[in-house]
Amino acid sequence: MIHDIEVLKAKTSKISEIDFNNLKFGHVFSDHMLECDFKNGEWEAPKVVPYQPITLDPSAKIFHYGQSVFEGMKAYKDADGKVWLFRPLDNFKRLNISSKRLAIPELPENYFMDGLKALLKVDEDWIPEKEGSSLYIRPFVFASGNGFHASPADEYKFIICTAPSGAYFSGEVKVLIEEKYSRSANGGVGFAKAGGNYAGQFYPTQLAVEKGYQQVIWTDDTSHEYIEEAGAMNIFVRIDDTLVTAPTSDRILDGITRKSIIELAKSENIPVEVRKLSVKEVVEAAQNGSLKEMFGAGTAAVISPISGFGYKDNDYELPKLTDDSYASFLKKRITDIQTNKVEDPFGWRMEV
Ligand code: PLP
Ligand code: COI
Repeated sequence: MIHDIEVLKAKTSKISEIDFNNLKFGHVFSDHMLECDFKNGEWEAPKVVPYQPITLDPSAKIFHYGQSVFEGMKAYKDADGKVWLFRPLDNFKRLNISSKRLAIPELPENYFMDGLKALLKVDEDWIPEKEGSSLYIRPFVFASGNGFHASPADEYKFIICTAPSGAYFSGEVKVLIEEKYSRSANGGVGFAKAGGNYAGQFYPTQLAVEKGYQQVIWTDDTSHEYIEEAGAMNIFVRIDDTLVTAPTSDRILDGITRKSIIELAKSENIPVEVRKLSVKEVVEAAQNGSLKEMFGAGTAAVISPISGFGYKDNDYELPKLTDDSYASFLKKRITDIQTNKVEDPFGWRMEV
């Protein structure tokens, strides 16, 4: 059990240079970070240190074999200045699930939680108060140990850095349903938040961006007939009044926003189905008018309504968002809980 985390304060703060009214996503970084090393078979005590470059040997295994995993979380400040996290233990557990799959040593819970809280206390002023903004938190672990042998490193670094952030998407979100490339495969690392999963998405996403889409919707790697998830979010569709999302598998990230939305919707008597969702069904629903909504869900994306999708050289538009849209309703419910505006009957919120 660690009780006190050592804190090395930055000599100067950059905070006065930041325009908190015009925050992009993940663009500016707070004054401090948490740093923790794995050496000689164990994790050393984490420390809060100034946000600064790190020095690595060119033969560090992260550069060659991509042994790295990460998480995405947010801290919110309420009207009384209290600071809140949303289901942080789920992020901690998922980080270790990802680490295990990448043969990275798992972290003790108190190193993660006590370290994160100590970091947030030091950089509390960096947590935006403006609605729609928050402090995006990026915990990550990577192989800092050296060697060209293609085997797990013997040293690792766990770092948490934070970025006051606004919305992830700056405009409308149009998606392309992928027919050729795959994000992940059975038995692979799709369920892990492994850095390489994202690198592998960049090229197909660039091709989609050139065609005017913002994200790719990944389909299953075998038939490309079933919708799985998007590049940085899980996907929900509303067909008539029913909300449908794909089941998680070893190809899909078990999103914390996704599972919260499923629980929230059920508690509001919104019919929810977690089942395989074929592209054919979605296209037919778009053609016959029963496809009412499509939205992405994730920590960075929150709930991002999708305005249209492309598939096999055809474009399909979705109805305009209204106040009755599930996306608007569920976004308000979840952000109200996250920011301590309403009761949290689920026990998801944690005060820092
Ligand atoms: N799917 C992918 C590939 C993601 O990167 C993310 C973002 O973290 C999500 C889904 C949503 O997960 P969560 O809601 O836990 O942020
Ligand atoms: C998040 O939603 O926190 C993510 O990790 C997505 C990220 C790729 C921006």
